[in-house]
Amino acid sequence: MKLFLLGFMGAGKSYWGRQLAAHWNLPYYDLDDVITEREGMSVADIFASKGEDHFRRRESEILRELALSNNAFLISCGGGTPCFSDTMDFMNSHGITIWLNPSIPVMVERLQRKQSKRPLIQDLATEDLVAFTEKKLTERLPFYEQSQVIISDDEISLETFEKMIRHA
Ligand code: S3P
Repeated sequence: MKLFLLGFMGAGKSYWGRQLAAHWNLPYYDLDDVITEREGMSVADIFASKGEDHFRRRESEILRELALSNNAFLISCGGGTPCFSDTMDFMNSHGITIWLNPSIPVMVERLQRKQSKRPLIQDLATEDLVAFTEKKLTERLPFYEQSQVIISDDEISLETFEKMIRHA
């Protein structure tokens, strides 16, 4: 199986990615972690010292490299991964794309807890997080909506994924 887990920041990609990869016995890659390892610095430091364009180039290159060099995998993408270059098309033609799309309050609640490691939101006041999330998510919908599997419930389980993937 070749799976790409997509969704906005705070959607639960890393959590579910680890769970699903263990459950289905798939090699697991958290794209942000692979980029961090390769670049030798955190995502926040890459944005600050090398700029967002550099980060976007690396995420697109590394995603392709991982997908083309593995027969089976689960890759948890960053929130912006599908929205740059033709990465959404690439993922749809090289595996199954799964969009985790919980409600905005659920994502915002998670983002408040891990704001500092996310450069796009690290300087926002907590009360501005909802407006930012609504606006950014709207911009990104045309990409996320191309996913082959869409999971929009707040309460999900392994069975939710099993059922959806079977029908993909
Ligand atoms: C980003 C999401 C982050 C990380 C970077 C940019 C985005 O990943 O790739 O901070 O553009 O939405 P998570 O979605 O895992 O937080």
